[in-house]
Amino acid sequence: MEHRLWGGRFSEPTAAEMRRFNDSFRFDARLAEVDIAGSIAWAGALAQAGLISEVERADLVRGLELVRAEFANGTFVATEGDEDIHTAVERRLRELIGDAALKLHTGRSRNDQVATDMRLYTIGIARQLDRRLRDVQLALLAQAERHTDTLMPGYTHLQRAQPITFGHWCLAYVEMFARDRSRLRDAITRMRVLPLGAGALAGNSLGVERERLTELLDEFDELAANSLDAVSDRDFVAEILFACALIGVHLSRLAEDVILYASAEFGFVELADAYSTGSSLMPQKKNPDSMELLRGKSGRLLGNLVALLTVLKGLPLTYNKDMQEDKEPLFDSFDTLDLGLQVAAAAIATMKARPERMAAALDDAMLATDLADELVRRGVPFRVAHGKVGQLVQRALALGVSLRHLPLSEYQAVEPALDASVYEIFNMARSVAQKASYGGTAPQRVREQCSRWRELLQEIDEA
Ligand code: ARG
Repeated sequence: MEHRLWGGRFSEPTAAEMRRFNDSFRFDARLAEVDIAGSIAWAGALAQAGLISEVERADLVRGLELVRAEFANGTFVATEGDEDIHTAVERRLRELIGDAALKLHTGRSRNDQVATDMRLYTIGIARQLDRRLRDVQLALLAQAERHTDTLMPGYTHLQRAQPITFGHWCLAYVEMFARDRSRLRDAITRMRVLPLGAGALAGNSLGVERERLTELLDEFDELAANSLDAVSDRDFVAEILFACALIGVHLSRLAEDVILYASAEFGFVELADAYSTGSSLMPQKKNPDSMELLRGKSGRLLGNLVALLTVLKGLPLTYNKDMQEDKEPLFDSFDTLDLGLQVAAAAIATMKARPERMAAALDDAMLATDLADELVRRGVPFRVAHGKVGQLVQRALALGVSLRHLPLSEYQAVEPALDASVYEIFNMARSVAQKASYGGTAPQRVREQCSRWRELLQEIDEA
């Protein structure tokens, strides 16, 4: 039996290496579930259009369910001619239900079929990544709740800047991942546009009512309004690959912080053994490989986005085989993140903070801004105050003492209005408590944000 869906006009077989080059079954077999869901809906639309009888529809559905079961329980056996998932399903359907299978592809092309499959599959991916991101947020939130008051240095330019709380640091990443989740949900709305019924490119002439299809496939709530665009659009793949790339960037930044903080020089956190590895040579080593891989794998996430955009950029309308190259980048980005996000959530959840090491890294100079603010409260214009405190920092450096050990005479030399109460500013907890503006690092504010996130993350709202 000729397996090729298009063999009629050919007199020679496809060359072996061409077949290997052309075949996509080895990577698109994972579309089986969505491909069959689309075919069941299509059979329904054919019956509604009177193109097949109700008996034929029921036969097709029964057969498709059998094929679905074979894929689900791993008993599907591929054959050499299974060019892609669509060919494989149709071939097996024919084996199972006989000639009743021959009408399934009426009015349909693999072009609108694969576009539909990819949309359905991508919606599933977006939802799954959304759930995984939520787990990472929950892990960060639990750390934040434990450490609303834990003081640590905040950095700009990786130089000690101002004291913050570790809880505040955790919640910064919760915000980042919240944007990623909202980006995924936003992308889903544009995925829910149905290409099926667009035919190869021009539409279908057999009277299939596409409106019915959105009722049969409830993931879709709108019809693609131009058949040419319907079969050639892969923007939704580019969008999710961008969302994946940015998630990768966020994970990489988180990983970089943790890698630094887990070093002996910082010592702010310790990763659990379960998310670290050792050295084959140096017995003392404990390496933060979980974080290094999260940082490293962002490379392929960015690469996959660029790969797809490059594939699409020069394509004439409408479908071109180049577009088969949409799959591996998508699947790779998904697989990478599906596992990576699980590792990230667990590694963060089991990470131990070392508040004493964080406190030891705080130094008085980080309160120089507080000192300037104190002068401002006493009526000194900020720019002048900045200059005066700069002089004090310079004096402290010259005398080899920290700011709090600089004698009062030095303070009064730059600002006669100062008295001994100036030393009250040398209190890290006080400094942090004063950052009480909305979004600031004051423990009170961090606690409020923790409650806000607890509530937001409680709801498991499906996009
Ligand atoms: N495997 C193909 C893909 O993923 C399916 C569509 C093939 N269409 C065609 N006209 N050759 O793009």
